[in-house]
Amino acid sequence: MVEFILNNETIQTDKPNGYLLLDLIRYDKCLTGTKIGCREGDCGACTILIGEWVNGRMNYSSATSCLTPIGNVHGKHVVTIEGLNMDQLSPVQQSMIDESGTQCGFCTVGFVVSLSGYCLENATPTYKGAIASIDGNICRCTGYKSIERAASNIAASLEKKEIDSPIEWLVSNNFIPSYFTGIGDRLQKIASTPTLNGHQVVGGGTDLYVQRPEEMVELAVGSISSDPSLRFISVEDETCTIGGGTTVADLSESKELKSTFPQLNDYIKLVSSSPIRNISTIAGNFVNASPIGDFTAFFLALDAQIHLAVNNKARSVYLKDFYKGYKELDKTGQEIISKISFQLPTKDSCFNFEKISKREHLDIASVNSAATIRALGGEILEAHISAGGVAPIPKYLAETGAFLKGRELSVKTIRSAAEVIQSEISPISDARGSEDYKRLALRQLFFAHFIKLFPDQIALESLTI
Ligand SMILES: Cc1cc2nc3c(=O)[nH]c(=O)nc-3n(C[C@H](O)[C@H](O)[C@H](O)COP(=O)(O)OP(=O)(O)OC[C@H]3O[C@@H](n4cnc5c(N)ncnc54)[C@H](O)[C@@H]3O)c2cc1C
Ligand code: FES
Ligand code: FES
Repeated sequence: MVEFILNNETIQTDKPNGYLLLDLIRYDKCLTGTKIGCREGDCGACTILIGEWVNGRMNYSSATSCLTPIGNVHGKHVVTIEGLNMDQLSPVQQSMIDESGTQCGFCTVGFVVSLSGYCLENATPTYKGAIASIDGNICRCTGYKSIERAASNIAASLEKKEIDSPIEWLVSNNFIPSYFTGIGDRLQKIASTPTLNGHQVVGGGTDLYVQRPEEMVELAVGSISSDPSLRFISVEDETCTIGGGTTVADLSESKELKSTFPQLNDYIKLVSSSPIRNISTIAGNFVNASPIGDFTAFFLALDAQIHLAVNNKARSVYLKDFYKGYKELDKTGQEIISKISFQLPTKDSCFNFEKISKREHLDIASVNSAATIRALGGEILEAHISAGGVAPIPKYLAETGAFLKGRELSVKTIRSAAEVIQSEISPISDARGSEDYKRLALRQLFFAHFIKLFPDQIALESLTI
């Protein structure tokens, strides 16, 4: 039995927990405000909010209901546009009208829900933040300027919001209905989630429900990201451990990771969109085994280890050894990734991630690459380089790393290593670019790592001419 609160109504259902939230909302509950556009997580028409009771308070984030199994919202609060409506329009709805932010109206619900989710965040309101919250919503009519003005007005109207406990303030200022204040107590009375055993494992569902939607809705699924014991980030003795249910958004909120990787949120913004990042997991990216998976490239360059578990048996494997061939993994069907661990970069080592895609945002990579390089006194002591889109598997460039180790940090070394890379990769021509283009793109990304990480030693001009 799956149990959750949909707007102000407690839902109990015996449907398979792989059944889609979007279908339950629209077809079972007849809440047709939530729209269906692409059913692939791209358009944002189906955006809803998911609220969770965490550390004594409600945390709300946006999600695409077209990719979310109902098992993933067990014990949570799901908010659709109907659950935001009150006797009068909320300031979010009013701003969209005042600024002509709606024309045909098909996308409008998604924008209003995402912006209302932004109002619920425990963060200082800014124009930039409000705009970022609608990065997963597409509008074909307005040209966005009117929606941007509405977002600006909304951010300004939140100036006096109480950041630590926004719900009471938002209720008293008519942003959300008053029933929100009782949701935390109601959620705590719902018994914890169903078991993972023997079920099709689902992280966020953002790959599975794009690839196998018809099959998934009939299945009992094991919701990894709903298990709190699998959703954590911890740092001990310079080792960072991330639970197998940790989402991309969890990474971007981690204080430890943000201080270790100062550019972390810039890297993360190159991956999918807010509603997808809020639900998709890092482990799901690894197991999907796409040769262009962004987090796979990221963690390959950190020389991460994954910890696999089944029936109380556990083992570890380096991520670089996990990929045996195209979508072929060193993993049995029942094994789950329970955690991921890696050594945090030391003061002598530094990390960089680069991605080339046809659009800067909400697009998959043509080629991506990450690098961790440890250098001291002009010598490269260690290098872990990864590359995506240039081989049938996410590629750990072992030979390039071995070539760099012990050599002088110089333009000559970097140019020679770029030659080694070319012998290690085997890109094919496809919709994302020709073989030659991908070879060139990776060479440029490799140069970019050094130009960005060692600006005092490696000048831009020295590698570009
Ligand atoms: C609109 C859109 C944009 C996207 N953009 C990007 C992008 O820019 N870059 C990118 O890399 N990806 C992108 N993706 C792909 C996807 O979001 C990522 O691959 C994501 O990390 C998958 O995680 P998930 O939890 O949703 O996986 P799921 O779909 O839940 O699962 C994927 C696979 O992993 C398995 N699995 C999940 N967790 C575990 C575990 N702990 N142990 C064992 N097996 C597990 C599942 O059984 C399944 O086989 C995009 C997807 C969409 C829909
Ligand atoms: S219907 Fe397009 S994102 Fe869900
Ligand atoms: S108003 Fe028509 S799609 Fe946005």
